[in-house]
Amino acid sequence: PLQAVIFDLDGVIADTAVVHRAAWEQLAHDIGAPFDEDIAERMKGVDRRGSLEILLERAPHAYSEREKRVLEDRKNGYYVAQIECFGPGQLLRGARRAVESVRTAGLSTALASASRNAPLLLERLGIAGLFDYVVDASQIAHSKPHPEIFLAAAKGLGITPETCLGVEDAAAGVDSILAAGMRAVGVGDATVLSRAEDVLPGIDAFDIQRYLNRQPTDRD
Ligand code: BG6
Ligand code: MG
Repeated sequence: PLQAVIFDLDGVIADTAVVHRAAWEQLAHDIGAPFDEDIAERMKGVDRRGSLEILLERAPHAYSEREKRVLEDRKNGYYVAQIECFGPGQLLRGARRAVESVRTAGLSTALASASRNAPLLLERLGIAGLFDYVVDASQIAHSKPHPEIFLAAAKGLGITPETCLGVEDAAAGVDSILAAGMRAVGVGDATVLSRAEDVLPGIDAFDIQRYLNRQPTDRD
């Protein structure tokens, strides 16, 4: 039976996917690299260095390790400047209710975020106390789509992956959940997130009862 729901943060709970995207787009502009929908979608859910590498695939020249760190810091500066003034108003509609409904149903909650800014953002949003366990990029070695972050969340909760459901807005995130052996629910574009057992238009449509009463779909 289902014992826990593990939520992604950016684009599922917080209205920050657009902020990350805008910061990367600004950096792309700074260095004369192309930026389009495809690149933006591939960057979603991927950690800072992984996202930068995607951006640099089509950059006009190669960058050294030291230069890459400078670029990462610049992008993070753009991002942090935006979230500095964030508060509970930047929670996505229905996000708090979704997490609370899981707790009310007697299940555990965890957060699995590829962002090193996750602890700061949770504080700003005023929801740090809603999660039994939090894992962010600073605690793991492999970025989504690797399963490490979701496996670490299950371990932190003291339960097995088979009893967990993960919620993600990124294809890399859904792949990470499935690779961890968990059930996956997508939030956003059904075409991009087609590997999830269910895709919701927004977190406000999340209904825990639906997953308590239903067995995971057989997929092969
Ligand atoms: C993920 C976002 O949650 O965090 C990505 O989906 C972002 O867009 C990544 O690049 C890393 O974030 P940070 O805050 O560590 O640079
Ligand atoms: Mg996300």
